[in-house]
Amino acid sequence: MNLELPIADIARLADHVGQTVTVRGWVHHLRSSGKVRFLVVRDGTGLVQGVLVKGQLSPEDFAAFDRLTLESSLTLTGQVRAEPRAPGGYELEVTRVEPLHIAQDYPIAPKEHGVAFLMDHRHLWLRSPRQQAILKVRDEVCRACRDFFHDRGFILVDTPILTPTACEGTTSLFETDYLDRGKAYLSQSGQLYLEAAAMALGRVYCFGPTFRAEKSKTRRHLTEFWMVEAEAAFYHLEDIMQLAEDLVRFVALRVVEHRGEELKTLERDPGPLSALAQPFPRLSYAEALALLKEQGKELAWGEDLGGDEETVISQMFDRPVLVHHYPRICKAFYMEADPREPELALCVDMLAPEGYGEIVGGSQRVADLDTLLARLEEHHLPREPLEWYLDLRRYGSVPHSGFGLGIERLVGWLCGLKHVREAIPFPRLLDRLYP
Ligand code: 4AD
Ligand code: MG
Repeated sequence: MNLELPIADIARLADHVGQTVTVRGWVHHLRSSGKVRFLVVRDGTGLVQGVLVKGQLSPEDFAAFDRLTLESSLTLTGQVRAEPRAPGGYELEVTRVEPLHIAQDYPIAPKEHGVAFLMDHRHLWLRSPRQQAILKVRDEVCRACRDFFHDRGFILVDTPILTPTACEGTTSLFETDYLDRGKAYLSQSGQLYLEAAAMALGRVYCFGPTFRAEKSKTRRHLTEFWMVEAEAAFYHLEDIMQLAEDLVRFVALRVVEHRGEELKTLERDPGPLSALAQPFPRLSYAEALALLKEQGKELAWGEDLGGDEETVISQMFDRPVLVHHYPRICKAFYMEADPREPELALCVDMLAPEGYGEIVGGSQRVADLDTLLARLEEHHLPREPLEWYLDLRRYGSVPHSGFGLGIERLVGWLCGLKHVREAIPFPRLLDRLYP
């Protein structure tokens, strides 16, 4: 490799017009036309077309082109030239070609492949422009979440993955042996630990993988997904609803602002996302049932909204909608009852528009010790492993609230994906653990 020449990211070629630079990457496309050879190279930051003209580089380097195959790795040196018609807007007038590794027949051809084939080749599929674009949006989403909480004085607290108890119901627990101490479960949510941290630090959040042995095979369910969760002392339901709304708006507008190119690659119309600057509509559970009835979808009071019902409601609005005050019987043990209507929970789900459904779940938490003890019994949850959680109601209990936002559901909606499996680099599904 010629180290005297500057090495440039393809995305930065605009800074090097007229200079000779080296780019390093993989062959995306090859084409010959008479005495000219074209190759499009990608390096993760972008695509650039290299042009090889016979006589303008050594015969050996010109001949090297013929050995190249799709996805071969190489370095390419040449002068940078603005070329509006080329992908990325710049071209390299190539003077050196150095193949690093010649790829075997690359299994993912530009032709159409079935989803199962692509999922089996996920490790290679990630190289496609579409998957790269999704990963970049995901990166932006994660960074925006962290910035949002940091700016508002929330402290990041990492919660454990190996836990002694359930948080979100016992039917979706992943169980494992914990050395000689019996069973442990992979975390379904960092919430319970975050509540402890909120009593120490006031406003906190966690961001990590969570696990649900979901028996449901839908376009919204993963068995391993990432969740950002917030918890704040002295916050009531109203506060947490506003916080969730502000977060989703902030993240979506950041993606529109910084990842417009990627949304274009994904053929995602940013129009509906820009509408998010407006306040999000709010509906009580009772109002949601009435709306569903109007749409010919009747749901019995007390039933949680399922995927179908969420789809119907979320298609009726151009922005996410906050559905609050669900019946307690269809929600988790830790949710505070509405003092005015104790059969209702002080809880909220945010449903993304365009049919995407639930992206956020949150609530005010039971603050009173005796009430919480009764709840554990109602839900047949063991008290002993949760004594530490009960302590939070013994030593300076305060009203507090929190929510969890599913990263893949959010990315799926922002990118306009049909299925959450594309919103995570290596999806874990009911029927998939490979690669
Ligand atoms: O509504 P959930 O179950 O809420 C909780 O776990 C609370 N403990 C959070 C809290 O209050 N701190 O999950 C929160 C979000 C859902 O709205 C959804 O976006 C996502 O997590 N989610 C899933 N995403 C992908 N696959 C799954 N199987 C998911 N289950 C939940
Ligand atoms: Mg939920």
